[in-house]
Amino acid sequence: MKLAILKEFIKSPRTVGTVFPSSRHLARAMTSGIGLEEARRVVEVGPGSGAFTGHIVEKLGPDASFLMVELNKDFHSRLCRRYPGIRIVNDSAERLVEILEQEGMGKVDAVISGLPWAVFPEGLQKRIMDQIYESLADGGHFTTYAYFQGCFMPAGQKIRKMLHEKFHQVHRSPLVIRNLPPAYVYRCRKNPQGNASSTAAHASSTR
Ligand SMILES: C[S@@+](CC[C@H](N)C(=O)[O-])C[C@H]1O[C@@H](n2cnc3c(N)ncnc32)[C@H](O)[C@@H]1O
Repeated sequence: MKLAILKEFIKSPRTVGTVFPSSRHLARAMTSGIGLEEARRVVEVGPGSGAFTGHIVEKLGPDASFLMVELNKDFHSRLCRRYPGIRIVNDSAERLVEILEQEGMGKVDAVISGLPWAVFPEGLQKRIMDQIYESLADGGHFTTYAYFQGCFMPAGQKIRKMLHEKFHQVHRSPLVIRNLPPAYVYRCRKNPQGNASSTAAHASSTR
């Protein structure tokens, strides 16, 4: 998988966004503290080489539904071979709401993202973030990560701002240094009180 990610990056740097697969340390941080053990419906967007997938599957209960959405055809084929029992859709997270409807999943309890936000143009960032937010049930969790250096770039700053504007709770983890490059994990929550009128100017927020 290490070579696969390098190969796909060379072909498509604007969608793969990195030459390194995420470490198990980042995978643990991405999949803990987001209620996966109790979740009924979970989706992973941009799973890439599948670095988070095994950690997600380990935590899910036997009745949970799990779906992945991966844009890249080669990663999609590899993931299908590696996880034959999991539904993996070869499409864009820009269509997440429609995909979940087609798959009979409706609103989900958790979205885990491997998407390379910092290389996306602002319009794409916004379209995908809207779809993720719309896909989540009240109280649902969203986790994503940001490379350390990306936090100083305009695209990285925009995505952080977007998280804080959209979600009712946003928590940034300590820096996960055992990852190349080191990264922060953002754990976000939609409307944890189940009160749709509560504003996203936030119940709790750590930057
Ligand atoms: C940084 S890589 C995945 C990182 C993953 N944690 C790993 O270690 O392999 C980002 C992935 O997002 C996928 N991706 C990019 N844009 C996407 C989109 N619009 N919808 C779904 N997947 C997308 C890419 O094809 C790539 O597989």
